[in-house]
Amino acid sequence: MWLNIKSFDEYKEVYKNSVEDPEKFWEEYAGTFYWRKHWDKTHSGSFEEGNVKWFEGGKLNIVENCLDRHLDTMGNKTAFIFEPNHPDSFRRTISYRQLHEDVCRFANVLEEKGITKGDRVAIYMAMTPELAIATLACARIGAVHSIVFAGFSAQSLAERIRDCDAKMLITNDGLRRGDKHVPLKDISDEALESCPTVEKVIVCQRTNRDISWVEGRDEWWHMLIRNASKKHEAVEMDAEDPLFILYTSGSTGKPKGQVHTCGGYMIYTSYSLRNVFQIEEEDVYWCTADAGWITGHSYIIYGPLLNGVSGIIFEGTPTYPDPGRFWEVCEKYEVTHFYTAPTAIRALMKEDIEYVDKYDLSSLKVLGTVGEPINEEAWHWYDEEIGNGECPIVDTWWQTETGGIMISPLAGITPTKPGYATLPLPGIQPALMDDEGNEIKDTEAQGDLVIKHPWPGMTRGIWGDMERYQETYFTKYPGNYFTGDGCRRDEDGFYRITGRVDDVLNVSGHRLGTAEIENAIDEHPKVVESAVVGYPHDVKGEGVFAFAICDDGIGDPEAFKKEINDLVSKIISPIAKPDKLQITTGLPKTRSGKIMRRILRKVASGDTDDLGDTSTLLDPSVVEDIIKGKAY
Ligand code: WT7
Repeated sequence: MWLNIKSFDEYKEVYKNSVEDPEKFWEEYAGTFYWRKHWDKTHSGSFEEGNVKWFEGGKLNIVENCLDRHLDTMGNKTAFIFEPNHPDSFRRTISYRQLHEDVCRFANVLEEKGITKGDRVAIYMAMTPELAIATLACARIGAVHSIVFAGFSAQSLAERIRDCDAKMLITNDGLRRGDKHVPLKDISDEALESCPTVEKVIVCQRTNRDISWVEGRDEWWHMLIRNASKKHEAVEMDAEDPLFILYTSGSTGKPKGQVHTCGGYMIYTSYSLRNVFQIEEEDVYWCTADAGWITGHSYIIYGPLLNGVSGIIFEGTPTYPDPGRFWEVCEKYEVTHFYTAPTAIRALMKEDIEYVDKYDLSSLKVLGTVGEPINEEAWHWYDEEIGNGECPIVDTWWQTETGGIMISPLAGITPTKPGYATLPLPGIQPALMDDEGNEIKDTEAQGDLVIKHPWPGMTRGIWGDMERYQETYFTKYPGNYFTGDGCRRDEDGFYRITGRVDDVLNVSGHRLGTAEIENAIDEHPKVVESAVVGYPHDVKGEGVFAFAICDDGIGDPEAFKKEINDLVSKIISPIAKPDKLQITTGLPKTRSGKIMRRILRKVASGDTDDLGDTSTLLDPSVVEDIIKGKAY
């Protein structure tokens, strides 16, 4: 049984089988869950048609699999350890039984407030257990949750609520992260001015600051759960019913609401966590992501609970109150599996090594990274200073669209190489494509990364826009899922992700569309036109570099940059703020009016010796001006 792959030979064999007979492969794993009714058809549909389905006709509830299923055997086991923003604040552990009760209570509240199967519920909350409880309560009653990262602005929140016509918003009064305070309820109030579909707002107390209140619309979480029953019968879902929507940025237009479904997502998150991390019953698993991103959905909430693991919910930041915070938490809870982003590693390795050495990290068994390419220096620091050279590093490549980890070492099983995501999980068939759209068969190769065969965890659509779904993922390389990433494969067949090949930036592991940022900058009355590119940044991985053509009289450029940054923070989020802004008189455009971003990228990274072919530019002299220009 391949439920847990235990050796590299076994991996190779299981992989081979998974390619020869994908349906049989997934059926075996799917059989380990609790289904109320067995599925009718293991797999149907295709990339060409954009109608992939898995386990259709199967009836289940994912929360029953996360919680109810474990109560008899491990009701008293810790499901979540909550570590607050400040180490001296109140911390707590929640057992599987307690979590089950809390989720049932809140599921009853949601139903009482008129939420039923298929309704969309937006969640905009601090990283506390209540965020997981709200999420699981939605899933338990069949409501489609749409979590919005609490770092997003009122406008971004509103846009996401409107796109899916959410009926309810669940939020906090506010949150604290590091020494920052974010007034979530105020931001929600502002967002809801343009969201007519939201009938009810449930507010969970966290900061106890004064907030404004809309009678009849707003209600306190703690009041509502007081009399709610702790018994709740989970709503039966079809495997292909939507479980959640999660918005992510693309190269054009507004964020796309990725739709994940109950059955396939359940199977894939559980399977990937178990095999990549080689997790075992007594392990303490900590993923430092925010639940507002897919990493948090899959590997803080669903994956660990499905596997009956104890996980940490961390409200804070890597550097508050000091840069030893991660390692302090690892020591305190004897964390065995630690999963974070390269950007955090790069930030922490700049600090005094004292902050690491102070703590006993001997409980660690596996270290993981996710979200962006990891440079070799950071990889080695992580390996030596945190893992003491004894913990396998799993560099996990995947995306919001994929639902779970796709290419990654299996901890302790797959040989690792710094900077390499290494090999695909069984069931996943990657390929590299050349410019002509043909698959490159040579082992050593470089090209666009595609996936050749559907897998259970993949996105089933873009909410309300199936045409865009088809266009974005299945048109460039017909018959394949196009990831948007470039990739290199070495002589051993190991994969190394080189980064996005479209106009998507990856800033500190956050995915941002250049068009989105440009649209925000263009809102400034003095900006005529702008173009945004990424450039190498030693902590963030990629920084945001904005070029803008402006009307005369912008005044002091530093002050102007602040105006632009405030605007981008307000429209999108502080994470999208340009690191650099250069005022320019023109942009390098082709005769057909397309901005040649390649040139801007070179200028932004200070590499202007060879700009390549500029003969198709409408006005090549613009380039000279841009090179001479100054960035702030
Ligand atoms: C993009 C997806 C996966 C959850 C968090 C991000 C980049 C992701 C890696 C990695 C190199 C990576 C890709 C991908 N990426 N993991 N291990 N090595 N690049 O999810 O926000 O949907 O972003 O993140 O460019 O396409 P996301």
